[in-house]
Amino acid sequence: MDKFVIRGGNPLLGTIRVSGAKNSALPCMAAAILTEDEVILENIPQVRDIETERKLLTSMGAEVELGYGRAQHRTTISCRVLSEPTAKYEIVKTMRASALVLGPLVARTGIARVSMPGGCAIGARPIDLHIKGLEQMGANISYQHGYVEARAERLKGANILFDKITVTGTEDLLMAAVLAEGETVLENAAREPEVTDLAALLTAMGAQIEGAGTSTIRVQGVEKLHGARHRINPDRVEAGTYLIAGAITGGDLCVTHCNPAHLGAVIDKLKECGVRIDILGKDSIRVRSEGALKTADISTEEYPGFPTDMQAQFMALATQADGVSQVKENIFENRFMHVQELVRMGANIRIDGRVATVRGKTPLSAAAVMCSDLRASASLVLAALVADGESILDRIYNIDRGYEHIEEKLRGVGAQIKRLGNVFSDRRETSATVTV
Ligand code: EPZ
Repeated sequence: MDKFVIRGGNPLLGTIRVSGAKNSALPCMAAAILTEDEVILENIPQVRDIETERKLLTSMGAEVELGYGRAQHRTTISCRVLSEPTAKYEIVKTMRASALVLGPLVARTGIARVSMPGGCAIGARPIDLHIKGLEQMGANISYQHGYVEARAERLKGANILFDKITVTGTEDLLMAAVLAEGETVLENAAREPEVTDLAALLTAMGAQIEGAGTSTIRVQGVEKLHGARHRINPDRVEAGTYLIAGAITGGDLCVTHCNPAHLGAVIDKLKECGVRIDILGKDSIRVRSEGALKTADISTEEYPGFPTDMQAQFMALATQADGVSQVKENIFENRFMHVQELVRMGANIRIDGRVATVRGKTPLSAAAVMCSDLRASASLVLAALVADGESILDRIYNIDRGYEHIEEKLRGVGAQIKRLGNVFSDRRETSATVTV
């Protein structure tokens, strides 16, 4: 298994380019199921989860080209033939977002079989709200052998009120609704930019959608959708991670090809910590540390609140702030997997239920640490960049799931980081891979 070796102490200086958003690309790739025509997606990140999605669609009979040529990170998907409308356990167990094929599959083919996602590192991660919405749209749901099966001649529009805000639940049912008969209203819908990005693609394919990005999305179902070409949004979590990398190392970093408008809560918190942030035009942000970091409390919320996907990274920063910072995780029940590893590096963090109390500033010392899930892994990278000595990060396939070429990007701005083992390869199966 690959490892990272990171020697801390270098301030990050220079420019770092953000890739396309994994959490936009995954639903957009699934949306190709809704049409017989080709769907072309650009700005696709070269990360493990995209490769997993390619395998998933291919296993269902789709043709998926995935090219990371110098010019474009692009995928061309043709779901003309969907011979096997099933998301198999072997794939779903490695990526929970496989559930995103449920809605489009039953909308396009009338049947979908998806392995129920097991729990994962950060929580139970059920898909009960996805299934409840499909039932409201007239799908017959059955369960056998660990799979959920949804069948419907043609889904019918419905008024769906989500008990909880769910990002992929909103995306799944949005994709189900665009081919349903009549109108569907999604209430208490997720407002994440990834939902808006998916809606933009679906609209380009001929769907009729109003309100994407708000809590109420209204869809008029159509008979058929056609192909489209769409450019995936920049990854706001990758961008936020690099902003914190610049701050925690006392550097001066320009994060480019991002969308500052998607990072409001993160930027506000960094400013509260005394970090200097300058928005440069429409797609770049400059981050500089200006003296000692101050404390700030965070409480994760659905967009546009402080994102749960930035909680672990912020906690690493909080270990370097003078004083006490409270970190409350409201979205997932087990998203503090990074805490014990940070404590092993010298951090002073106490967990009480959903609240972690961080007492800083504590000097961090390099250690051998274990990556458990995607964002916890990012947190350990950030800590290692500022720790005294050489850290070894194990199970970094978790990082490869959502951060494109992270070691090259960090080395390009002065980090001392190298990968031990094979270069990131999607051909290696790891039984230890957890879903997120
Ligand atoms: C998406 O996961 C993201 N993944 C996650 O990013 C992100 O952390 C999460 O949204 C929250 O922002 C993708 O977009 C592929 P949810 P998702 O459904 O959709 C509960 C990363 O690091 N829930 O919004 O699976 C659920 O248990 C990943 O990139 C139900 O109870 O999250 C959680 O407590 C990690 N029933 C809450 O809702 C359901 O049917 C929010 O989950 C669905 C969700």
